[in-house]
Parts: sequence; structure tokens; C-alpha cells
Amino acid sequence: MSKVFQATASAPVNIACIKYWGKRDTKLILPTNSSLSVTLSQDHLRSTTTSRADPSFAEDTLWLNGKLDEIKPGGRLATCISEMKRLRKELEDANPNAEKFSHWRVHICSHNNFPTAAGLASSASGFAALVYSLAKLYQLPASPKELSLIARQGSGSACRSLLGGFVAWREGAAADGSDSFAEQIASEADWPAMHALVCVVSDDKKDTSSTAGMQRTVETSALFSQRLTVVPERMRAITKAIQNRDFDTFAAITMKDSNQFHAVALDTDPPIFYMNDVSRAIITVVTEYNRVALEKCGKRKAAYTFDAGPNAVIYAPRENMKEIIELIVSYFPQESFNDPFQLFKSAAVQGRRMDGFNEGVSKRFGIGAVKTLIHTCVGDGPRVRGDEASLLGHDGLPK
Ligand code: DP6
Repeated sequence: MSKVFQATASAPVNIACIKYWGKRDTKLILPTNSSLSVTLSQDHLRSTTTSRADPSFAEDTLWLNGKLDEIKPGGRLATCISEMKRLRKELEDANPNAEKFSHWRVHICSHNNFPTAAGLASSASGFAALVYSLAKLYQLPASPKELSLIARQGSGSACRSLLGGFVAWREGAAADGSDSFAEQIASEADWPAMHALVCVVSDDKKDTSSTAGMQRTVETSALFSQRLTVVPERMRAITKAIQNRDFDTFAAITMKDSNQFHAVALDTDPPIFYMNDVSRAIITVVTEYNRVALEKCGKRKAAYTFDAGPNAVIYAPRENMKEIIELIVSYFPQESFNDPFQLFKSAAVQGRRMDGFNEGVSKRFGIGAVKTLIHTCVGDGPRVRGDEASLLGHDGLPK
């Protein structure tokens, strides 16, 4: 039997605290500002990808969540695949003993363990898993930082999913993008108490994609240039807050930056609304929760942030999460709650509010306004998976 060249990897989702919004080069995907995110645990949210090279394959082919996906010539997927083949070719040229298969076609099969309909950004974990699985297939010695340069060209935010913990994407200055990479500023072990609650908010309308939305902002928003002057100081301050495990400062900056990002979206012509009434109600509930906390102990206890859609992600230290879930459920009732950290043992979530909380800050929504709550925490970078996780069968086609 001939040798099988195949690798499977999984990669995490990341949610930014300092948002990437705007490109200075749309082909190389070079940002107008640095950004910073928290990598979420792959135990709960992940993309898994199997890549295989074989001389019998007629074309590079990708299946995404069970469906054949187009690889447009010159498009983002094609760029990532050809960059990875180029690195393999370099390795083969430098090492006469290396097996020569960089010119073979590849079959790539990718799957997200969360529903695409949940509206969670899957392009970041998806491109990170693709690049990482190809790096393993090609046995490249490349570091996560080097791989981030390639994942960035698939989707900007994907470069941050090559690393675990707390990750900065440096905007860089070079025209060829060689200094626009991701690097870890603190690992998941440095602040394991950082937890996150993803509130999946129902949404019927067709979203403006991040790619189109940010381009329109760059071209039409006057507020946008103001944003670019405040981001560098925020990057410095939040990095320090993370390294000192100073949640209060982390929370203040995270919420300000989310608000500013949505303000520049609104300042875009025509305006872009990513948040809806439910999103705004989550903001008022978290704000009131923090008001009580500031009054009682002088420190914020939770931070909301929203990407290019209505879903909220609430960051909080683990010790506050039970209280926060109770609070969210009291305004956004749930039929059930999956409790991966066993905060409630087998008891039901009551929907309790803490003393001093002004319950009039928001109305109570019906079941389904927040479709699901996903409790997770900060996690590690991409993982190599064993053969049992392979998404391709012996014939090189999806299982
Ligand atoms: C609001 O990385 O999806 O989530 O580079 O065009 O693929 P492209 O955009 P994308 O934008 C993400 C925008 C954001 C903020 C962030 O993740 O930093």
C-alpha cells in the first residue's frame, strides 16, 4: 500500500477586545490598526480540518461542513493553499531527502462543531485550522507566528487563532505584510480564570459582511480616523491589564472599544447596524451589573463585546459567571442551559438577580431572544488530531 500523506488539526475561535476594522491593503489583508483578542477553548468551539495530498487527485478541492466549496483562482483560499505549497517546495529544495509531494493536489475537508446559523465567526477558526493542518501535512517547521502571516491572507482575524491565550495582531508597516503577524502577549495558563459567555442572539436580517463593511467604513466614516488615534494607547493599556490580571481595566477598555467599533459602523455611509434590541438590552444589563459592583467593591465584574453581528460575548472571571448566567437568564429566559463547568450541579438556573440591581433597566424578553448561552474559557492554540478525528475516508473523500 502506498504511503498516505494526511493530517488533521483543530483550531479555536477568537473574540477581539480591541477590534480589527479597516484594511490598508485589501489583497494582502493588512489592517489599519493593531488588534487584540482572547482565544476561546476548543473544548467547546472549534473548526477541525483534514488535509491530504495524493498524486491521483485531479484538483485542489475543499468541503466545508459537508458541502463542496469553490476555490476561486486568486481568491483567499487559493492564496493560503498556494503559500503552504510554496513553503513545502522550499523545504524539498533545501533537503534532498525530503519526499517530493508539494506539486500534488490536495483534498481539504473542514467542519465547525458549532452551527453556522449561530452567527459565530467561523472564518477565523476555519482558516487557522486549514493553515495548521496543511503545515502538519507538509511537516513544516514554521512557528505559529510564521503561519499567522499566511492565515491572515485568508481572513484577517484568523491570524489570531494560530495562538492560544491572549493574542495581539501587530498592524506592521512593511508593504509586503511581513511584519503584520500575531503574537501571544499572555498564555491561557497566565490567566485561566478568564471565562466567556457567548450569547447567541436571534437574527433574521442579512448581515453586511465584515469584509465589505470595514471597507465602506474606511471610505466614508469621518469618525474612523479618530478611532485610529486612540487604538495604540488602548493596545498598550489592555496588554498591561492582561499581564497584571487586572480585570477592571480589561473590562473598561474592552467595552469602550466594542462601543467605538459600533459607532464607526453607524458612522459609515450607508450606516451599518450590527447590534439589535436584544444586543442593546444585554449592554444595559451588564452596565447595571457593573454599576452595582463598582458601588460595592469599586471594580467591574463583567465586560461585553460585539463583533459584526448581534451576538454578545461576556468576559468575566470564573467566580462571577454563575451570578452572570442567573442574571442573563432572568432577562433572556432559556429552555435549557448546558453547564460544562458544573456551576449549577444538577439544579436549574433560577434567573436570580443580586441585591441592589435595578431590574427596570430592561424588559424581560421571551424564550428564543437569546437562542443559546455557551459558557467557555480562554484556551490553547491549534491542536494536531489523531487519525480517528480524520474527516476524509480511505478514498480521500469526505466520510
Ligand atoms: C468585527 O477577519 O472577518 O470580528 O479580514 O475581511 O476576512 P476579513 O475580516 P474579518 O473581520 C473581523 C472583524 C471583527 C473584529 C475582530 O475580529 O477583530
